[in-house]
Amino acid sequence: MISTVATTPFGDQKPGTSGLRKKVPVFQQPNYAENFIQSIFDSLENFNGETLVIGGDGRFYNREVIQKAIKMAAANGFGKVLVGKGGILSTPAASHVIRKYKAFGGIILSASHNPGGPTEDFGIKYNIGNGGPAPEKITDAIFARSKVIDTYKIVDATDLDLDVIGSVTVEGMAVEVIDPVADYAALMEELFDFGAIRNLFGLGFRMVFDAMSAVTGPYAKEIIERRLGAPEGTVRNFIPLPDFGGHHPDPNLVHAKQLYDEMMAGDAAPDFGAASDGDGDRNLIIGKGIFVTPSDSLAILAANADLAPGYAGGIAGIARSMPTSAAADRVAEKLGIGMYETPTGWKFFGNLLDAGKVTICGEESAGTGSNHVREKDGLWAVLLWLNILAVRGENVLDIVTQHWATYGRNYYSRHDYEEVDSDAANGLIAALRAKLESLPGTKIGDLTVTAADDFAYHDPVDQSVSKNQGIRILFEGGSRIVFRLSGTGTSGATLRVYIERYEPDASRHDLETQAALSDLIATAESIADIRVRTGRDAPSVIT
Ligand code: G6P
Ligand code: ZN
Repeated sequence: MISTVATTPFGDQKPGTSGLRKKVPVFQQPNYAENFIQSIFDSLENFNGETLVIGGDGRFYNREVIQKAIKMAAANGFGKVLVGKGGILSTPAASHVIRKYKAFGGIILSASHNPGGPTEDFGIKYNIGNGGPAPEKITDAIFARSKVIDTYKIVDATDLDLDVIGSVTVEGMAVEVIDPVADYAALMEELFDFGAIRNLFGLGFRMVFDAMSAVTGPYAKEIIERRLGAPEGTVRNFIPLPDFGGHHPDPNLVHAKQLYDEMMAGDAAPDFGAASDGDGDRNLIIGKGIFVTPSDSLAILAANADLAPGYAGGIAGIARSMPTSAAADRVAEKLGIGMYETPTGWKFFGNLLDAGKVTICGEESAGTGSNHVREKDGLWAVLLWLNILAVRGENVLDIVTQHWATYGRNYYSRHDYEEVDSDAANGLIAALRAKLESLPGTKIGDLTVTAADDFAYHDPVDQSVSKNQGIRILFEGGSRIVFRLSGTGTSGATLRVYIERYEPDASRHDLETQAALSDLIATAESIADIRVRTGRDAPSVIT
């Protein structure tokens, strides 16, 4: 039986960079999740009888919201739900399942790399039929609806057993509990030369993959150990836990420090280290003795993609988010292909991928992916690296240094100031905005400003315009500082300062990154008054 339940709106259901993210207790308020899910359905049209994919990263509260979402999908007229066993689907796997089964869309439950647990983060995101995050037109409609919603629809049914693969019906709607790994693993076998990678492991190549007690565990176990033959133990922390073992499932140098230290342990270090985040869309790549920045990784993967069978015909173009370094631009220039600069957020790549303008996309925030799905994909990046290493027969360090020698090196770092007072952070950005016009032509230390703006994106496919996407200050010689406020935090504001310097001279490619950027770091402070405005002496995280 369908119930129409009266509800009152919450004022804070505005989707951010990647869906609605809040602390678990916020989502646990009566009707909170239901309101948002109904607002999603109310913002969509013509889905009667269609298929909806539902899955999440297994974090605390995942199962509860999945049960609600299934019952609401039935009440709202969907014909079928595909749900991952145990409520599990990594974000890229969900994207693939939506595409493969031609679903109308999908609901992904995740707060990505944020911690999980009863007082930590949760999130709900809607993806459209191309498998990608809903564009702003839809997320704006969802928010508008959430502000006026007065009822939601749900069927009165008992909870489904999510742990048994198979089909059941809920009030006339079919629900299929699917293996969350199988379709994704098959896609990876199509894209990459598994034979070559298997041979590499056969030669004694040593790898460590840290699944960070998050969703990629079962995927990595199946693909890296079972199908590619890496020794058991290669994949660590492979059981997804609701609280990620109490850690931040964020594959960066702070939260994956143990892996980093192991990779820096000289000759004893494994050949290749990698990790992924809570929902499996981010990646960390570390070679023996060298961390590969996400911006460099994007450029190197793009330059070598044709070594993998899935990209043997070459790539159509590359897209990167604006704060991502320009390393990939040099690859696109050499290959004579298109290069697109988009705002932060994977959703901006969807149109370019659908239109066939680009094949590979990436962001400085450890996201890389391709047209195989419409999300970034952590394991995909790891497997493309493995494919390249297997075919080239060289180690990571050699591949990276050769890349720099060919294209020049973009020294790059991001300084984050987390949980800053929101007014202070907004004030800092407003003050920068007010200065923009006066900056070009001024000299700060040895640096001359050539241009300064607040980045606006004109989507070449649907002509939509997204304004205020980050303050850019460009200097002579290709150096750049970008200031932006994060769109993914759940408390206070996070100021991100992205610092980049281009160095064409190969004899200057082995400097320590922070030292190579020191003049720009000082300039960022003097332009933005970070210390005074945020009350912080130093960034909370440097990546
Ligand atoms: C998520 C999004 C990415 C984005 C990242 C950082 O992972 O999917 O597209 O780059 O968050 O966003 P933020 O707004 O916190 O800088
Ligand atoms: Zn993620």
